[in-house]
Amino acid sequence: MKPVRLTEYTRFSGCGAKLGPGLLDKALCGLSQKDYPNLLADYSTSEDCGIVKINDTQALIQTIDFFPPIVDDPFLFGRIAAANALSDIYAMGGTPIAAVSVVCFPKDTLDISYLRAITEGGLDALNEADTPLVGGHSIDDPEPKFGYSVTGLIDIDTILFNNRIHDQDLLYLTKPIGTGLINTALRGGIVSERALEASTTSMSTLNRKASMILNTLPITACTDVTGFGLLGHACEMVIGSGCTIQFEASSIPLLPDVKEYLSMGLIPEGTYRNKEYRRSYIKEYASVDPDMIDLLFDPQTSGGLLFSIPKSSCSELERLMRVAGVPAVRIGEVIAGEEVITLV
Ligand code: CO
Ligand code: CO
Repeated sequence: MKPVRLTEYTRFSGCGAKLGPGLLDKALCGLSQKDYPNLLADYSTSEDCGIVKINDTQALIQTIDFFPPIVDDPFLFGRIAAANALSDIYAMGGTPIAAVSVVCFPKDTLDISYLRAITEGGLDALNEADTPLVGGHSIDDPEPKFGYSVTGLIDIDTILFNNRIHDQDLLYLTKPIGTGLINTALRGGIVSERALEASTTSMSTLNRKASMILNTLPITACTDVTGFGLLGHACEMVIGSGCTIQFEASSIPLLPDVKEYLSMGLIPEGTYRNKEYRRSYIKEYASVDPDMIDLLFDPQTSGGLLFSIPKSSCSELERLMRVAGVPAVRIGEVIAGEEVITLV
């Protein structure tokens, strides 16, 4: 078989293929589950993982993430899928201990060597994360999809919930924004080499080092930026917090050429779904280019950690991130008040 472009097999790619949040609400709201005394977080909250207490000090955390190819190179696709699946564990401050793969593969139209390479890429990231692959499940499907369910352990006292942001905290982000736009440009055949390179490198990078640093500091809240975009995930941080998040738009790090792709209208469908769902939480953005709102709702695949930290610990945080080579950037602050997001 001749070489193929993996992204041609998909309608949407990466986390942009998620069912929209509004639609998901319709399927999940009001479901009743019996009470489990050890259940600390389940599907009804917007946390990155489900959490079940296993003894007085520890809990099991679990997550699953799989999606259609976001890049054409099968090894890199596997690596990105693993980095993305592990990320939810890191976003809560946990340590991954085992992974199970989820595979959908078109056996009649794609050579099995592609699945081999995807699996190798995934294992490369799992090895880096010291996380054994313990099994998996595969289905013959015309559209390839790949990812993992990851199980981890976490100390109950140090769980990083989404919405415990606190007045006067500062907000940081550890990866630049724009993977959705770059992917749309890739599918349109007009992506620049530098944009693709930067995006692929960012998506393949584990959030492990960043998470290990956060575990040594008094972080108040953390999540990872994925399919709902920076503003969508920031909404999950403000809801129930009693606080406003104020982003400084010009300091939000962007991948190369994304503003150009934005002005060309290469906007992923997921952006509109994300914006529609959370528009009412975005207040006071008059001083910001309206296109920026679209960019900040761009669905990210294997995005960075978004977290809040008291001002007093910022210089230590910045020092540790610099030493570790993690490009953590300060992008805003938290102010007690209405549960909304403002952009200045
Ligand atoms: Co997440
Ligand atoms: Co997830």
